[in-house]
Amino acid sequence: MDQVVMQKPHEMLAETLSAEMAAVNTLIQTRMASKHAPRIPEVTAHLVNAGGKRLRPMLTLAAAKLCGYQGEDDVKLAATVEFIHTATLLHDDVVDESGQRRGRPTANLLWDNKSSVLVGDYLFSRSFQLMVETGSLRVLDILANASATIAEGEVLQMTAASDLNTDESIYLQVVRGKTAALFSAATQVGGVIANADEAQVQALWDYGDALGIAFQIADDLLDYQGDAKTTGKNVGDDFRERKLTLPVIKAVAQASDDERAFWTRTIEKGRQEDGDLEHAMALMAKYQTLEATRADAMAWAAKAKAALDALPDAPIRTMLNDLTDYVVSRLA
Ligand code: IPE
Ligand code: IPE
Ligand code: MG
Ligand code: MG
Repeated sequence: MDQVVMQKPHEMLAETLSAEMAAVNTLIQTRMASKHAPRIPEVTAHLVNAGGKRLRPMLTLAAAKLCGYQGEDDVKLAATVEFIHTATLLHDDVVDESGQRRGRPTANLLWDNKSSVLVGDYLFSRSFQLMVETGSLRVLDILANASATIAEGEVLQMTAASDLNTDESIYLQVVRGKTAALFSAATQVGGVIANADEAQVQALWDYGDALGIAFQIADDLLDYQGDAKTTGKNVGDDFRERKLTLPVIKAVAQASDDERAFWTRTIEKGRQEDGDLEHAMALMAKYQTLEATRADAMAWAAKAKAALDALPDAPIRTMLNDLTDYVVSRLA
């Protein structure tokens, strides 16, 4: 019997938006090049050609389509958003000292930190050139704010990461900044170029914000529960980097004195030994914090779905609806 292969929501979106996504990919290839500094295309090709889910550009295209957009600026904005994302990944892997991204060694490992920082800067600048071409000051405002907010989120995380007093509200602030800001900007600009009414633009922002938060919470879960083969990133990186993410924050909040001493040594002081990651996992199991974290991600996904009610009832809205479940249950 033929097996029915279920398509994942982001694959359905990719198929529905395949013509526009092909144009986005061509634009990315053209604009990531540099005539003067060969290191730039080397580094960008390494990362860009490794793929990535291209979720954020699809969100821009989907939002514009849902609101009836007919022009061609959606492609430019989608490429802008992916450029910003790519630039932040280059910088993030330097900050996190990560060795693996999209199943490949990171650029900072293959080349060096300097190349990643400078090529990241180049991509940021290229993203601004692209968005200027839309001629919309409102779009510039939204994406410039999002870029600043991402950087704020990363800096806040840097200072809060190994501080055991970091609570769930600070975590939420970090996640909203470093991740959700680009999701919400991506969906919002799609509505803005389509001249959608303000209630719809707000709904698109609400959807992107909640989806982005759910996405990052799921990503933090995958750091403990995932498989490097599917995520393309190393398991346990957050613990080794002494990053307080939700599963650990929830365990710290319930810790006995002995357990708190363990978290102080490993996360706050960074004195980690063999077996510490396993012990951390055991403590998270004891308090079922991975389950509680997943429940939080699901609550944000439900919020994202609710925001869609204010948008036109069309097949693409159903795909955006299904995407919320996918980001929580995803394996990569
Ligand atoms: C990685 O984002 C950065 C986070 C916000 C966790 P993605 O998981 O969307 O990365 P790619 O583009 O698919 O590689
Ligand atoms: C994502 O943060 C990076 C940005 C959104 C800037 P993380 O550091 O948590 O994500 P990964 O695990 O490296 O993809
Ligand atoms: Mg990282
Ligand atoms: Mg990071």
